[in-house]
Amino acid sequence: MFKLSSEGEAFVQKELKRYETKRSAIIPCLYKVQEENDGWVSPEAVEYLSGLMDLPSAWINEVLKFYTMFNQKPIGKLHVQVCCNISCAMNGGRELANHLNKEFNIKDGEISADGNVTISRAECLGSCGTAPMMQVNDNYYEDLTPESAVKTIKGLM
Ligand code: FES
Repeated sequence: MFKLSSEGEAFVQKELKRYETKRSAIIPCLYKVQEENDGWVSPEAVEYLSGLMDLPSAWINEVLKFYTMFNQKPIGKLHVQVCCNISCAMNGGRELANHLNKEFNIKDGEISADGNVTISRAECLGSCGTAPMMQVNDNYYEDLTPESAVKTIKGLM
């Protein structure tokens, strides 16, 4: 049964008071749930948050399913998001993602056998001038080659 830590619950209460409507606090509260639930938001966690925030779970699910920064299934320790939008695609972003799939022997969204890596393809991450790029957890890595991307990911394991 998922439950936030007491610090996490205090965060939710603070966020609920911060905005004019409780609904506006859903994004920061989902971030907190994801942080405390190994990087993803389970259906059980949505129900828990719905009770804690006193909001319909459908409202929380709407936000969860719209934004790609929230994961709806378990992920590896390192969530590698490779941008495949226009600037990155023109500079080898799709080939980079394919290379990482092969290197770590996983399809998009899967977890590597050692539990370390999940690869996703992302829309523009706002770093077009240094394409191709990837986001690994909260950090950006830019001007990548297939080799430098692999080296970076292995260095984070
Ligand atoms: S297109 Fe890749 S960061 Fe913008």
